[in-house]
Amino acid sequence: MRNVLNDFPGRLQRDPGFGNGRPIGIEVWSAEMNGTAYVDFYKRLGISPVAQDVSDLPRHFGRRDSLYRFLGIPAALVAERSVIEFGPGSGHNALFTASLKPNRYVLVDGNPVGVAETRANLACHGFCEGSIEVVESMFEGFDTAERFDIVLAEGFLAPHSDAPTRLLRHLSRFTAPGGILVITTVTPASLLSEMVRRLMRSRLIAPDAPASEQMALMRPILEPHLATLSGMSRSVEDWLLDNIIQPVRPDGLLTIPQALDTLSDDFDAYGSSPSFTTDLRWYKTVHGVRRGFNERMTECYFRRLETMVDYRFSPPEHEEETGRTLEGLCKGIWDLMTAAEATGKRLEAPERVSALLAPIADALRPRLPETAAALNEVSEVFTGHRSEAELRLFPAFWGRGQQYLSLIRRNSP
Ligand SMILES: C[S@@+](CC[C@H](N)C(=O)[O-])C[C@H]1O[C@@H](n2cnc3c(N)ncnc32)[C@H](O)[C@@H]1O
Repeated sequence: MRNVLNDFPGRLQRDPGFGNGRPIGIEVWSAEMNGTAYVDFYKRLGISPVAQDVSDLPRHFGRRDSLYRFLGIPAALVAERSVIEFGPGSGHNALFTASLKPNRYVLVDGNPVGVAETRANLACHGFCEGSIEVVESMFEGFDTAERFDIVLAEGFLAPHSDAPTRLLRHLSRFTAPGGILVITTVTPASLLSEMVRRLMRSRLIAPDAPASEQMALMRPILEPHLATLSGMSRSVEDWLLDNIIQPVRPDGLLTIPQALDTLSDDFDAYGSSPSFTTDLRWYKTVHGVRRGFNERMTECYFRRLETMVDYRFSPPEHEEETGRTLEGLCKGIWDLMTAAEATGKRLEAPERVSALLAPIADALRPRLPETAAALNEVSEVFTGHRSEAELRLFPAFWGRGQQYLSLIRRNSP
């Protein structure tokens, strides 16, 4: 284990400055919304816990190519185009983007360790600076008059950001008219399995405890859960740091409908992973400035919300209202979790978790019986009737985590 963890005090202190002091863009960011909580967490530990396994590069590239396909971005759309990527982490995904030969590729990240690793990763795979520029900057302080054909903002807007919709608006400005913006979102439904695991952590140890202590306690419990994920491409330690130990913000959620609402004046929904939108309209009836793409995706999102809960199953479409109710129930878990974490202390009255999980299990049982059974089982941990080691069904229950969404910037206002 990295020894830097031993010094981590758990609770974050905020730096009121703006990253490296670059000029601020149009948005005015208060000290509370300067985005440093996320980057501070990485800086404090001196880490960039986002490495992907790229030992089999064709496999890694194949995965990225599949993602881009779902998003409607074939290789021909990247070649000779300009791309800006916010939050490349350590640059593992950037290897694929660079291989598609954009004519300009700017990468922006506020974590110096990530920036150094991105530069090294690109260089050692033969991608030299020239058309590629790696910039160390907080997003909130980044500005340029340049507009890009493709803007990538993957893996950070939620749930760890200070003000996701505001950050989204800020970053979307760098998309050229007709260009493509790629973002990631999280819904409380897709995050349910992880929220329950975070609550398991808070039941056992204070979120304010040193990261090394949290790691030592949670690793033996959660490693077998992660082992059930055959497609996992990250290390257990990185995943725990990033998803269980890293603080989240009470207002840190960003769902697909929220993202579409935020951008509806300028952008149209395009593709997504997972793909869940069906649009059976005759194209000849689809014209004008506002062509209903966002509304169609939002409706399909709520009709498919149960699919987000458990990656193992693809239940059929349901009523839109069923999805809205499920979203509300899962948001209840998010609210309980973030309120408990904000105290910095161990979870009080853990049986409250079971009370909130019961109606979710009831709602899911008709179409997702295995998921409902897993929730009932883990409920017993929170009522003290079962230990973590006795879980048989819950370890294999994982949600669809974050969703990828691509949008096209409208040409005309
Ligand atoms: C989880 S990583 C995502 C890595 C990669 N894009 C992926 O999806 O796998 C998020 C990255 O965004 C950076 N980041 C998050 N918030 C930031 C901010 N406000 N300003 C600058 N960088 C930020 C972090 O330093 C980190 O490298």
